[in-house]
Amino acid sequence: MRNVFLTGFMGSGKSRIARYISKRYGIVCLETDNLIESRAQCTIREIFEQHGEPYFRELERQVLHDIPDYAVVSTGGGLPCHFDNMEWMRAQGTVFYLKARTEVLAARLDTPESRVKRPLLPDTAQLIPYIEATLKTREPFYLQADYTIDVSDLSVRDIVKQIIDITGQ
Ligand code: S3P
Repeated sequence: MRNVFLTGFMGSGKSRIARYISKRYGIVCLETDNLIESRAQCTIREIFEQHGEPYFRELERQVLHDIPDYAVVSTGGGLPCHFDNMEWMRAQGTVFYLKARTEVLAARLDTPESRVKRPLLPDTAQLIPYIEATLKTREPFYLQADYTIDVSDLSVRDIVKQIIDITGQ
């Protein structure tokens, strides 16, 4: 197995699935958001507030390019939609799009903890329209993944099983 990249909207479960795969199969787990925070020595929210989104996207591109082989990588929700990031990931390993229904995403994202970590999220009243509109522009990128798994009604175990069946661990 080379790298396994998990992509998808905020709240699609990328980090959870990556951690599970890492623990169960002894593969290094990396999260692009964590790599950015370590490199910048501040939080994702601070980066957005102090430097703006284009600066964040550039950091995202840089950490992606520095990812070592043989890792399971949870990528930030916007990462596949900028630069040649999707193409680059496909050249480095297998890319999965964890697709989830808007209501499922909204239910997971509509919490204070989630908002602290995710500066792009609007308030509750705007959440569903925001997800719908953003998915419309992002899905053409997400769908360039090697595999799409509809995770809305699957357990973590079943999602991991599908990924591992495909990557042949
Ligand atoms: C973002 C998703 C976040 C994080 C940043 C921007 C996005 O990651 O990278 O807040 O543009 O969708 P998660 O998808 O892990 O929440």
